[in-house]
Amino acid sequence: EQTLRALAARHGLYFGTAVDPAAYGDASDPAYKRTVDTQFSTVTAENAMKWESLEPTRGTYNWGPADALVDAAVRNRQLVRGHVLAWHSQLPAWVTAGIQDGSIDGPKLRALLKQHITAVVTHFKGRIWQWDVVNEAVSDPWETPSAIHLGGNAGSFKQQFADLLGPDYLAEAFRTARAADPKALLFYNDYNIEAFGDGGPGDKTQFVYDMVKRLRADGVPIDGVGSQGHLATQYGNYDVFQVADAMQRFTDLGLAVALTEVDARSLLKNADDPALAANSADVNARDQAAAYNYHVLLQACLLNRHCLSFTVWGFTDKYSWIPTWFKNPPEGAGCLWDAAYNPKKSLRTVQGDL
Ligand code: XIL
Repeated sequence: EQTLRALAARHGLYFGTAVDPAAYGDASDPAYKRTVDTQFSTVTAENAMKWESLEPTRGTYNWGPADALVDAAVRNRQLVRGHVLAWHSQLPAWVTAGIQDGSIDGPKLRALLKQHITAVVTHFKGRIWQWDVVNEAVSDPWETPSAIHLGGNAGSFKQQFADLLGPDYLAEAFRTARAADPKALLFYNDYNIEAFGDGGPGDKTQFVYDMVKRLRADGVPIDGVGSQGHLATQYGNYDVFQVADAMQRFTDLGLAVALTEVDARSLLKNADDPALAANSADVNARDQAAAYNYHVLLQACLLNRHCLSFTVWGFTDKYSWIPTWFKNPPEGAGCLWDAAYNPKKSLRTVQGDL
């Protein structure tokens, strides 16, 4: 059986996964490391390159786990997606606390962020293929139905972060990253931008499109747009052509695109009842719907020669972020392999599509 990386290489596509260095180094679970080493041609640190992981205490950088991940990637001839530089979430506690108590004001936060970007990009210089320079900067339609904007819900930390930095922080973040490593491809990364909606004021994809178009027009060094691809089987679902159309519109701006965090979670209808949760008809229906979502994103990517990589956000349900994150209502089972590393319908579909 051919590996995902070999199958994808036939299309000039890199196939990736998010990696947890703890699971990778866990000798009691050799299947995790073996799968990372053999199946994928690009890797992303699931958490190890986030600001809270790199600088938990002000002025003291902890590069160990991220360096180990990059070293392993070099050994495996894998390219690395750097994730992430400017993001309101998973900031070190000292940054979040400073913002909340007012000791870190706008100018201070901008200076700290700039310093952080320079330190991190310089540290990994020459070893990162694509950087997620700015992540999830834009509000969601369900938060702000009248108008998408930089930030989030009124009163949210996401909004506070955006307001403190001011609207031109994106340009500054990209310029700072470019100066530190001129060869890395610089990405804007977000969720719910897989397809255009109605084009109206509640259309997040349209907002991001206008935003990156403006950045390009202003000469800001942005090279690509990452679409996370966290899909859920219980919502509408896209078709291949909607997603391909969105990618085409981004690449018509001269940008690359990538699927950066793909998974397909499902509502665990019967999660409160273990007997029912094991109902095989439910499981089959979920697996089928999840496989469809993988298929749609992968086919769209294959239709666009500027779609550089297709990265899944973890590959085994054993370590998926979904059950810990989506609890109310409970969701789960979004990966290509199940928790015992058995291939799922989604894996077979992806292999067939490649
Ligand atoms: C998630 C990780 O998978 C979890 O382990 C962590 O607790 C929270 O963050 N969008 C992103 C990723 O850009 O960084 C997030 O990763 C998932 C959503």
